Amino acid sequence: MERFIADEKRYERMKYRRCGHSGVMLPEVSLGFWHNFGGVDVYEHCRETARYAFDHGVVHFDLANNYGPPYGSAEETMGRLMDDDFRPYRDELFISSKAGYDMWPGPYGDWGSRKYLMASLDQSLKRMKIDYVDLFYSHRYDPNTPLEETLQALVDIVRQGKALYIGISRWPLEALKIADKYLSERDVPLLIFQDKLNMLNREPQEQGILDYCADNGIGFISFSPLAQGLLTDRYLNGIPQDSRMSKGKFLKQDMLTPELLDQLKAWNEEAQQKGQTLAERALRWILEQRGVTSVLVGASSKEQLAKNLKCVE
Ligand SMILES: NC(=O)c1ccc[n+]([C@@H]2O[C@H](COP(=O)([O-])OP(=O)(O)OC[C@H]3O[C@@H](n4cnc5c(N)ncnc54)[C@H](OP(=O)(O)O)[C@@H]3O)[C@@H](O)[C@H]2O)c1
Repeated sequence: MERFIADEKRYERMKYRRCGHSGVMLPEVSLGFWHNFGGVDVYEHCRETARYAFDHGVVHFDLANNYGPPYGSAEETMGRLMDDDFRPYRDELFISSKAGYDMWPGPYGDWGSRKYLMASLDQSLKRMKIDYVDLFYSHRYDPNTPLEETLQALVDIVRQGKALYIGISRWPLEALKIADKYLSERDVPLLIFQDKLNMLNREPQEQGILDYCADNGIGFISFSPLAQGLLTDRYLNGIPQDSRMSKGKFLKQDMLTPELLDQLKAWNEEAQQKGQTLAERALRWILEQRGVTSVLVGASSKEQLAKNLKCVE
């Protein structure tokens, strides 16, 4: 591929929202590397999607230590992208990573200990070939590690200059409140909460997480905003061979019940009547909810991403 020179108009098409009570603006649409950027995927294809994203103002790339497959390989792809295309644009990118799920064998490669978080971030930085991440997350709540241990590790990571901001993902409301207080008292305010919010899963609203974030100056980013593809036209007429559902691990075929399919078709029809796609409507719905900063989409092609970007009005 030819040398990457970013589109001069890249900031004209995207809208940015302030992330809680912070100096950080995030694009309404961010790009996740959970699927489609691993060692099993074709690098030039990943590169095309990442370039397209950046050229359209999608400056936030979201990763985690174990994205791939295999684990770690999405971060290696990010490292290659830095070398090939994005190094000159590092200061225009907002890169996040996480630790919290299983990453390596033994007692120190999982959950929320200081031992795990510190070692994992060091590994992530090496794989991504960067000196710091803009945002580092505790990827999940650990009921067995004292919250203070996890939170102090996050504070120290910022003090060491390895992350600029801290986020948490999938913590229950009561733990979120403790994290908010602990981090604020140490002058490392919680930047953002990451959770699954979409038209099929409204738990963060029902559990009061979104309201808490909105009321307390914490940003909120919605992962799997398209319910892994269900909230698009992908499955309206069967299960395509190359789809995430046919690959089977995270999006199971039995999720697509006749009732759900009817619901999706009805939403699709409603969207079409308004001149929208179902994906556009689903993303717009999230962006209209109180407290939401960004939707964190996945895309297996730049064409999908292009369609999803239509939700930015
Ligand atoms: N914090 C956490 O615990 C957590 C958990 C999950 C995800 N995340 C983050 O959230 C990001 C997004 O998650 P996700 O990949 O599940 O998001 P998603 O946007 O709900 O689903 C993405 C998938 O939907 C399909 N798709 C997307 N746009 C489409 C379109 N316009 N038309 C048809 N199909 C379309 C594609 O599937 P096909 O592959 O079938 O083409 C794509 O891979 C992840 O990459 C990760 O960064 C975080």
